[in-house]
Amino acid sequence: MGQVELQNVKKSFGSVDVIKDISLDIKDGEFVVFVGPSGCGKSTLLRMISGLETMSEGTVGIAGRDVTDVQPSEREIAMVFQSYALFPHISVRDNVAFGLKIAGLPKEEIDAKVAKTSEILGLEKLLDRKPRELSGGQQQRVAIGRAIVREPAVFLFDEPLSNLDAALRVQMRIELIKLHASLDATMIYVTHDQVEAMTMAERIVVLRDGRVEQFDTPVRLYDRPQNLFVAGFIGSPKMNFVKASPGESGAVLLANKVSKSIPGVVQDQLTPNMQLGIRPEHITYSHDSGDWQGTVTVEEQLGSDAFLYVDVPEIGQVTVRAVDERSFTRGDTIFLSFDPERCHLFNDDEQRIN
Ligand SMILES: Nc1ncnc2c1ncn2[C@@H]1O[C@H](COP(=O)(O)OP(=O)(O)OP(=O)(O)O)[C@@H](O)[C@H]1O
Ligand SMILES: [Mg+2]
Repeated sequence: MGQVELQNVKKSFGSVDVIKDISLDIKDGEFVVFVGPSGCGKSTLLRMISGLETMSEGTVGIAGRDVTDVQPSEREIAMVFQSYALFPHISVRDNVAFGLKIAGLPKEEIDAKVAKTSEILGLEKLLDRKPRELSGGQQQRVAIGRAIVREPAVFLFDEPLSNLDAALRVQMRIELIKLHASLDATMIYVTHDQVEAMTMAERIVVLRDGRVEQFDTPVRLYDRPQNLFVAGFIGSPKMNFVKASPGESGAVLLANKVSKSIPGVVQDQLTPNMQLGIRPEHITYSHDSGDWQGTVTVEEQLGSDAFLYVDVPEIGQVTVRAVDERSFTRGDTIFLSFDPERCHLFNDDEQRIN
């Protein structure tokens, strides 16, 4: 049983509050990703769960036990860092077995566990090599192996793939997802890469400046971001934002005097200085008519996808996903519209309205 419960957890370094009252309930067997910009407190929060960092306030529970004052080695966790921290002078086999030897397990038991772990991770042929004789991806697998042999209730990963090249990252990402499925363990994974978060997580914690902005499934974060920060952080290319103000009878007034009723929004929810968010794939475009007129400045071909970057004088740059043969190139005049059913309205407190 590997559920993780954080209750009103806080951390200050001197007078600087780094984690500001976080409570989270992570289920047994769940794959949860902490994501957020650099310095928002992801590693600190993970280290507090591991016990490597003390807490200023609050409690941590692992597998139903309050471990707030329990040593890291007694918490039933295993942590994998960005730097693999393998021992360079001993073999892969001994690196994987290290923790078990320290714990004083009998040799046969160690051998059996190392064999099983190597099989899971495809390390069998590498066991007699030294870490320097391995590629980055292989070294990372050894680091993960060292965590797996200990059969922890909870795995903690801090940006474990960030030293790998792009192709290897994608491959290791898939291996970790498979590993999670086969081990049935709870995994908490830190990254600042929202694509990694979206593809790996069952639920994502979006952190900003020591607070949880939203804790939700990837689909919910994408479809119903609860605030302006999450809306702008999740999604690539980013969501477009258009300034909005209260209009007639519950409608919102946008650039170029465009007035739209947004489903689910009533007059008294409207505030000054609202922002309307529209994802690039929810903007429609045409050669001759629409809400806004602009000029295509960049046409970006990604192979499976294409994006147009459009300069609209009243708004600024708008990103549009190009979906069909109605091709536009740089310098073309383009008209843009959007579907009010597929947009996101945020009030002057940056909170979602619709
Ligand atoms: N030992 C420390 N003493 C003082 N400040 C610290 C200490 N450790 C971290 N901080 C500060 O706490 C904040 C959060 O740091 P943390 O390492 O948790 O961020 P992060 O989200 O993991 O960032 P990154 O994506 O860059 O790894 C940062 O502003 C950092 O400078
Ligand atoms: Mg970090």
